[in-house]
Amino acid sequence: MNRQPLTVAVVGATGVVGRTMIQILNEREFPVGELRLLASGRSAGRTVSIDGRTLEIGEAVPDAFDGVDIALFSAGADASRELAPAAVAAGATVIDNSSAWRMDPQIPLVVSQVNPDDLEGHPGIIANPNCSTMQLAPVLMAIRDAVGLERVVVDTYQSVSGTGAEALGELESQIRAHVTGEAPVANVYPHPIAFNALPEIDVFLDNGYTKEEWKVVNENRKILALPDLRISCTAVRIPVFVSHSEAVHVETREPLTPDRARELFAAVPGVVVQDDPASHDYPLATEAAGRDEIFVGRVRRDVSIDDDHGLAFWVVSDNLRKGAATNAVELAEVLRERDWIRPAGTRGASPYRASGVPDSLDSPEGTA
Ligand SMILES: NC(=O)c1ccc[n+]([C@@H]2O[C@H](COP(=O)([O-])OP(=O)(O)OC[C@H]3O[C@@H](n4cnc5c(N)ncnc54)[C@H](OP(=O)(O)O)[C@@H]3O)[C@@H](O)[C@H]2O)c1
Repeated sequence: MNRQPLTVAVVGATGVVGRTMIQILNEREFPVGELRLLASGRSAGRTVSIDGRTLEIGEAVPDAFDGVDIALFSAGADASRELAPAAVAAGATVIDNSSAWRMDPQIPLVVSQVNPDDLEGHPGIIANPNCSTMQLAPVLMAIRDAVGLERVVVDTYQSVSGTGAEALGELESQIRAHVTGEAPVANVYPHPIAFNALPEIDVFLDNGYTKEEWKVVNENRKILALPDLRISCTAVRIPVFVSHSEAVHVETREPLTPDRARELFAAVPGVVVQDDPASHDYPLATEAAGRDEIFVGRVRRDVSIDDDHGLAFWVVSDNLRKGAATNAVELAEVLRERDWIRPAGTRGASPYRASGVPDSLDSPEGTA
């Protein structure tokens, strides 16, 4: 294990994910020697206060990465495409939260409890999955490993914090407008989000899906190393501040009872089964917010599929924590524990190559 304190940069440090990253580095006592907080030129010189400490923001420019060991990026895909290669050239290893590198066959896309071994061959950049993918992949992994996956249908109910700081303000001001009888003003979303459900997350693609839905399709295939997995998604934004919820329907290769499924889910690190409908106990966004676990409940037979080959369940997790910041810090922990911080080429390790990621399924680049 690398025992030296590390120089860590957080790019996008003024954003909701960046601030959560700083908090989680502190909470998990990640051995940070120097913490370098970076954002756009608009924020340079400003300060943020985290856990009672006041820290100054620098501008994210190539020189800012000199001497950095690990750079945690959450500043959008454009900034990642521009700055991540510069950070790597300066000697940093980048863990990137944007969609910029996720479907690159040479960049590992990693959920800490699903495919940490994929980190070994990283070329200096590692991709953190989309938040909707993050909470689903560990649960699907449990089914894949025990009985095999035939088909997955997932519908998401996603919080506004998944869009960023501005969307949190927009929901709040629309709620206030409703209370005072004013018309809601929508800038972030194409329609009011308060008291609504918007079946549009990110842009529409030619195939009728949104890019968010297509990320769930492609990213799960890559992480689970199932390039042909039959999987479909409808992604919906709802007026919740934090935590995404997902209704999942799975067709399995071998039979799987709900009782056995609960056992399998509970055995996955970081997954908690919360499933006692008689006492109204099931995963809730409000309770998952602020927690690092993935909560699963409402586990039942999918009656539309015969012979115990169908399962339905509900998955909830904090999109800012496990869905973004916690997983990024967990990946940094694995890199440190296994001495994999430096790129594979400098350690004599074989380069990572995704198994059978079809180029035709690559979605256009995006922001989330
Ligand atoms: N929110 C989630 O649940 C979630 C989950 C997974 C992944 N992500 C991804 O994480 C990233 C950030 O999301 P967020 O929700 O934290 O958004 P946010 O609250 O809007 O924050 C955006 C951050 O990016 C910075 N930034 C923007 N353009 C920049 C540039 N050219 N150079 C350097 N910094 C720049 C902003 O700095 P200024 O303050 O200076 O503008 C701010 O710190 C996005 O890629 C997002 O897709 C978000």
